[in-house]
Amino acid sequence: MLKVESIQELRAIVQAWRRAGDRTAFVPTMGNLHAGHIELVRQARGLADRVVVSIFVNPLQFGVNEDFASYPRTLDEDRQQLGQVGTDLVFIPAVATVYPDGQEVQTRVLVPGLSGILCGASRPGHFEGVATVVCKLFNLVQPDLAVFGEKDFQQLSIIRRMVRDLCLPIEILGVPTLREVDGLAMSSRNGYLTPSERRQAPALYRVLRGLAERVRAGDRDFPRLEREGIEALTAEGFRPDYLSLRRIEDLQPPGVDDQRLILLAAAFLGRTRLIDNLRV
Ligand code: PAJ
Repeated sequence: MLKVESIQELRAIVQAWRRAGDRTAFVPTMGNLHAGHIELVRQARGLADRVVVSIFVNPLQFGVNEDFASYPRTLDEDRQQLGQVGTDLVFIPAVATVYPDGQEVQTRVLVPGLSGILCGASRPGHFEGVATVVCKLFNLVQPDLAVFGEKDFQQLSIIRRMVRDLCLPIEILGVPTLREVDGLAMSSRNGYLTPSERRQAPALYRVLRGLAERVRAGDRDFPRLEREGIEALTAEGFRPDYLSLRRIEDLQPPGVDDQRLILLAAAFLGRTRLIDNLRV
């Protein structure tokens, strides 16, 4: 597996692959890889001749009081896992490589509508930071296919929208959420949980499953279901940020006749913010 830190070297390698007619798949990550990330790489491996994974903790998508400085960095373990699953190239740029003139003057990509709701409402600027770095990484790697997790469903929706709106010739694949045996969605941030919080954490998915069951059984009083979901999370020891039933296609609030729905939630356990979602 090649390890590349510079833009020049990355470009030279991916251009050589392209000239050889190889199809490239790309998996952007912030590292501290778990089985969910590895599943994305596995799927990429099955769909392309070359697989590029990036590891970059992107300061542009973290708020001032968020965990950029303390975000877990486990490069050696990450590289070992990526090598085992058949990654061709891991791109590990420095912050100064991605933002050579500083973050302030960086041209930004904003996906309106989708970026200000749900997680975007409580994390201002977050999705602008995500869309901007993913757009830059797409331009550097120039993949045919890019793979994202449904765990971050709003992020996936924003990337799909960006690719459409900016006419990027990249196919986007979404991969279902990988979970621990007790249902907790795998996440790098699960490592922040204390042992007792870790025991509480699966309640987030349990609450979503209970609500989804009731929607499937015909309950269409969505505002009441959302209120009850928030109460249930609070009773389980969470500090809910939001719990919302939305239309899958545009993440807008559904009308009573909408059929393709998704439940999305974000909630704090202590200082850790967990997110999860479930298609109904
Ligand atoms: P990160 O949180 O490292 O996630 C990288 C990719 O792994 C994302 O597409 C995410 O949805 C996916 N992923 C995380 N947990 C998963 C799980 N349990 N099951 C399946 N997929 C999972 O998301 C980011 O990084 C960043 O915002 C990034 C896109 C790299 C831009 O900086």
